[in-house]
Parts: sequence; structure tokens; C-alpha cells
Amino acid sequence: MPYKRFIVPREIIHGWGALKALKYVETKKAFVVTDSTMGKLGYLDKIKAILNEKGTQSQHFDQVEADPSMDTVKKCLTQVMEFSPDLIIGLGGGSPIDAGKAVWALYENPDLAEVDWDELLRALPRCKLRQKARYVAIPTTSGTGSEVSFGAVITNYQADPPVKKLLVSFQLTPDVAIVDAELASTMPPSITADTGFDALVHAVEGYTVGQTTDMVDSIAVTAIKTIMEWLPKAVADGSNVIAREKMHLAATMAMVACSNSGGGLNHDAAHQLGSFFHLTHGRANAVVLCHFLSWLYDYNPERLALLARELGMEVKDTRDGTQKLIAAMSDLRKRVGLPGSIKEMGIDEVIFMSKLDQLVEYTIASGISPQRPSLDEVKELYLKVWEGAEPKLSPG
Ligand SMILES: [Fe+2]
Repeated sequence: MPYKRFIVPREIIHGWGALKALKYVETKKAFVVTDSTMGKLGYLDKIKAILNEKGTQSQHFDQVEADPSMDTVKKCLTQVMEFSPDLIIGLGGGSPIDAGKAVWALYENPDLAEVDWDELLRALPRCKLRQKARYVAIPTTSGTGSEVSFGAVITNYQADPPVKKLLVSFQLTPDVAIVDAELASTMPPSITADTGFDALVHAVEGYTVGQTTDMVDSIAVTAIKTIMEWLPKAVADGSNVIAREKMHLAATMAMVACSNSGGGLNHDAAHQLGSFFHLTHGRANAVVLCHFLSWLYDYNPERLALLARELGMEVKDTRDGTQKLIAAMSDLRKRVGLPGSIKEMGIDEVIFMSKLDQLVEYTIASGISPQRPSLDEVKELYLKVWEGAEPKLSPG
């Protein structure tokens, strides 16, 4: 039987106000990779003050955009190379943390900055990191989980339409994740809902799609239960400290489960929907979820029914369990105010249909899913996601 690995950061520091633990991270020169919002919220100053107090020199780059490009990564890299930090800090949502990981990889392996996408994706898993710097990730949204994952999503804008590329290497796992819910407490309800659904999909995919283990299962189930209970409360009242703490740690746990098991077609679709139609990652995940579960029923019915049982549902058989799971996810999506179809998101039908074949092709090429669906299956999935009616499984 093949052995399995379980990979997490060396330290996950969590709880309200955990940011102050940054003072215990060893560093003489720290470089912060972030976006412009973190300055406006005062978080960048807070971090610089902690570093300054312990005598650490610091510099920052605050121009990471949503869905960061390789151009942005390289722009930041120039500054990092000049400064030569021994610590890189990724601060923000998934975009700055992922961009920071890519900058870190290229800083450690400058030759990779010169190669094309295919060579970069091929070479990265064999490259060493931590020869020059270590990486601290500080998430300010409760969803992406990039603070504990060994992946980074960077968009190739040279392709038309742009395509998201997943950089993967076990080495990319941050050394330290600081999971401080106070930093996520300013998220407005819509971002709380979007990012919360991203986390939910990580945990659901982690449990239902890939090579699970008892460790993955227990973490995934706890994350799903927590999100189902606390996401509506965090959306309804952003000042609810307990809801914020529950969601922030659940998002981290969801990615621990997903990165140690594997993602699925839900994320293949969400990445491409995001690139094609500029949907937020969480929203794109949310709109696909019920149809993804209905599709997955043909591949993995036992796991779906088992998850329904774990969530406390009374399950007669696999079909009944999957249908109840779909109903619960659909209900949660409605409760947090997320749309149930692509057509509700203001996308023109003619444009959507004209791009559908290419969308299907890119989705399959995205390659996260261990199940290998046909073109027709993915096209059918997208037509259902466009329409949005809650899927009903046919009688077995
Ligand atoms: Fe995600």
C-alpha cells in the first residue's frame, strides 16, 4: 500500500489577536507582499510596527491585484532581490499570499524567472526553498486557506482568455501561518459569504473527491460542520467575534484537508469561470457546488452518503444521502445570499454560450480533478450551472 504524507506549516498560530506572535518569528530583514487594501485598513502599519519594535528592517510591496499576474510577481521580485530578506510575509486574501509564494520561489531560484509557464510548472516541485528566506502567511479573509497549502494560483494573462495556473510544490507550504480572526473581522457580508463558500468547497472536495485518510476526514468534517453552523452568523453580524473566530480557523482546517487529499472538478470549474467572467473565486465555487455533487454521485456515491451521515442526516441509501447533502448546501447558499446560477450574475447568455466550448476545454485542461470527465459531462454541468435549478438525482 503506498504511503501517504500529511503536510502542514511548522506552526499555525491562531486566535483573536494572534498577529502579535509575529514578534517571536526569527528575522533580521522581512519583506511584506500585500495589496493596497491592507495599508488602508492599517494592517500593514501594524505589522511594520511589530517588526520595527524587534529591530527588524522591513520593506513592502503593496500592488498585488486580484488574480495576480506573473508580471506583478516579477515586479515584486526585483524589489525583493535588491533587499535580500530572510523572511517573506504574505498578507491579505489568497491573491497576496499566493503572489508572495511565487515571489519566494523565484527569489530562491532566480533561473525560474526566465523560463516559460510549462517549464516553471515542471521544474518547481524539484526546486529547493528556504536557502535564503522563510515564509509567513497571514490571511485576512476566511476562505482561501493558502496559508497552509502548497499551491499558488497565478494567472497567465498572455493567454486569451487569461488562464489560472496552479503552481504546486510541497516546498511552497508556508513555515508559519498566523490565523488571526481580528484581521478578518472587517470583511463585509458579501465577501464573508464568498470566501466562506470557498472554504466549504475545499472541505467538501477534500472529503469526497480524493485520497482521504482518517486525519483528512476528521478535519474536513469538523470544518464543514463549523462552516454550516457559523457562516450564516458571520454573514448576518460581522461583529460576532465567536463567528469570526470559528470561520477563520475552519477555513484553515478546510485547506489542510483539501491540500492533503486533493481538490476536484468544482475548483477546476471555479478557476475557469473566474477567469472567463471575472467572478470572485468563492462565488464561482458556490454556484457550481450542488451540480458538482450531483455529477460526483456517478463516481463516488458512498463518500457523499457517508458525508451526509457524518453531518447528522438520516440516510436511507447513497442516493438519499447525496440528495440531502445537495439540499443542505443549496439551503446554506441561499441563507448567506449567494446566487444560485450563472445567469443570475448578470452575464449575457449569448456571450456565455459563445464561450462555452472553450470554457469546457480549459476546465478539463485545468486538471485538478482526479476523476477525468468527458467534454460532454462538463458541458452538461455548465448548462445546469447556467440555469441553476437544484439538481434532482434520477431514481437508482
Ligand atoms: Fe478555493
